[in-house]
Amino acid sequence: MPTTLDTSRRERTINLGAGPSSLPTPVLLEAAQGIVDFGGSGMGLTELSHRSATFQRVLSAAEADLRSLLAVPDDYAVLFMQGGGTEQFSATALNLLAAHAVAHPDYVAQHPAGPPCDYAVSGSWTAKAMSEAKRLGANARAVFDARKLPGADGRFGAIPPVAEWQLSAAEEKPAMLYYCDNETVDGVEYASPGFPIAELPQAYRESVPLVADCSSNILSRPIDVAAHAIVFFGAQKNVGPAGVTVVIVRRSLIAEHPDKGVAHGGPRIPTTLVYKQHADNGSLYNTPPMFAIYASGLVFADLLRNRGGVTGAASRADMKSGAVYDVIASSNGLFQPTVRQADVRSRMNICFRVCGADGAPSEARETAFVARCKEAGIEQVKGHRSVGGIRTSLYNAVTPEQTLVLVDVMKAFVKEMQEQK
Ligand SMILES: Cc1ncc(COP(=O)(O)O)c(C=O)c1O
Repeated sequence: MPTTLDTSRRERTINLGAGPSSLPTPVLLEAAQGIVDFGGSGMGLTELSHRSATFQRVLSAAEADLRSLLAVPDDYAVLFMQGGGTEQFSATALNLLAAHAVAHPDYVAQHPAGPPCDYAVSGSWTAKAMSEAKRLGANARAVFDARKLPGADGRFGAIPPVAEWQLSAAEEKPAMLYYCDNETVDGVEYASPGFPIAELPQAYRESVPLVADCSSNILSRPIDVAAHAIVFFGAQKNVGPAGVTVVIVRRSLIAEHPDKGVAHGGPRIPTTLVYKQHADNGSLYNTPPMFAIYASGLVFADLLRNRGGVTGAASRADMKSGAVYDVIASSNGLFQPTVRQADVRSRMNICFRVCGADGAPSEARETAFVARCKEAGIEQVKGHRSVGGIRTSLYNAVTPEQTLVLVDVMKAFVKEMQEQK
């Protein structure tokens, strides 16, 4: 039986997968020990009671470090839930509609369609979230759908200015405005510093709960939590293994008795999705995803204590993505970004096509490029099946040194293709 872990192949591999994606090796080694024998207890972390004092310490430390990293105000609850980002597509709408029904008991009698739920459809994940809200019966409206913009040709790749958004009127008392800060599939991210909250009309901004899906860029730049009703993220990109979804929610919006909303047109919410259950029980209403919480906590601690926190991650993200976009820009059209609008090109998921001499995307060249990456130890760079091309994901655990290997492969490929002409 091996008593040490072999990391040598891992050290030669650069994993640029879009998620699940790479995590820092020291964190994984510590987690590996913890799953075998946690803290010298003779028991692995996942073999302990989730109600033990030991696991409670793990959970509390993870929450405290996350609160420090994101400067989460005290009037926000941090919930460690399951079900992935996808479950939050349902949970955000259901919980906020319940809170709306409790706060405005006469609303549905006067407006049978229910309060509007606004969605800023900048990519595939917001589109999915909005479809789910519709399926659940919500009055979901797109404030814009980037696939329908002039020149979009049915594809995502731009975000219109706020002045052009079809926001519901504040007097209609929308239940929420939902956005995704970084669209993982399409490589569209709100330009730094993030979603243009200050540009929303004042009455709207001050009254409509703002919901952010930050699954693929959390902890890569600061976010103003206090300006949001809910910030949520699945762990499996910048945070930890799949299995835990973190929901940061303003306590005043957690419906005290969500079932009371039912009489007023609010929905009945499955118990495991009720924020109040998780908030009242310190994320221990039912058995939580213990390993995912533990490993995520190690990532939070590592980022906070060893890697300069979120500002450190932000400057590395700018540097890494900047280096790759620079090669794209100087490739004489060999690499072409799939995101048309330059300032919303993602720092996390860089999506581009490899083009032939005629300037059109060339699948043969893309196959050759993927092969060159593989020769250099770079894995998982093929684009999402709905977009095609190449997607290199530069999450927090991808180091600047690893990014430079990618940059070198790209530069060498430009040279190789020029020589072919
Ligand atoms: C931005 C975003 N939101 C939501 C999801 C869905 O997450 P899950 O697969 O955990 O349900 C993903 C998955 O990649 C994502 O990237």
